[in-house]
Amino acid sequence: MSQFDSTVAVVTGAGSGIGQATAMAFAAEGASVVVADIDAEGGAETVSAIEAAGGAATFVEADVTDDDSVANMVETAVSEYGRLDFACNNAGIGGAQKPTADLSFDEWEQVIDVNLNGVWRSIKYEIPAMLESDGGVVVNMASILGKVGFENASAYVASKHGVVGLTKTAAQEYAQQGIRVNAVCPGFIDTPLLAAGGLDDPEARKGIEALHPMNRLGSVDEIASAVVWLCSDGASFTTGETLTVDGGYTSR
Ligand code: NAI
Repeated sequence: MSQFDSTVAVVTGAGSGIGQATAMAFAAEGASVVVADIDAEGGAETVSAIEAAGGAATFVEADVTDDDSVANMVETAVSEYGRLDFACNNAGIGGAQKPTADLSFDEWEQVIDVNLNGVWRSIKYEIPAMLESDGGVVVNMASILGKVGFENASAYVASKHGVVGLTKTAAQEYAQQGIRVNAVCPGFIDTPLLAAGGLDDPEARKGIEALHPMNRLGSVDEIASAVVWLCSDGASFTTGETLTVDGGYTSR
């Protein structure tokens, strides 16, 4: 018996990095997983890895900036597996790195649309499906940059602060209907997102590592295990929480 036997989880951005590790961690605990991403190749890789380990997963091409696409993602969970218990709203992008006043409207909007509106769109369709399943747990992927600022990343920082506020509010709204809503706030994690932001250069990486008292980046598995815990019965009184997993970054 595994703790998530007979449950169903959706993970957005599950074709890479933290989302991929989280989808695999849900499956390892017995959940059937809907692997959602705009990247079909990455999604297929995640499904293969889950199946190779003996788990159950289905890929659905889903763009969190598109309403119909997100609706279809949740419908897939229900049509394939009959219910929805857990959702990890993880899809996100880093965006342009510039001082605030140098950002174009499009650069600002793209980050907000994926990272913040995308989480809201996901919740909008996940909550009704969870209510049909007598409750569930939502875990939104925020960031330490949902708690503190970071130069040249104002759209990202604003989007993640928004995710934290959305999490706290949705938690209050559904607390008496069996749905818990929490967020994870990772420090810097070793994923392709860092490379996309130019932070894979050895000097830049050293500087980022040094911002964490543990003097290292986090791993995707260290974030996936936080998501799994938030979905577990051990977290049954935990809602509206932003669980920081950052090697001490925000303790400074
Ligand atoms: P990643 O780049 O490895 O994975 C992100 C995934 O999201 C990719 O598979 C990508 O195709 C997908 N994606 C992008 N736009 C999408 C869209 N519109 N619809 C659906 N899927 C989309 O990045 P990583 O690092 O795994 O990031 C995952 C989440 O964790 C993001 O929300 C990120 O902001 C957050 N995070 C990451 C940190 C890090 O240092 N890597 C630190 C704190 C938070």
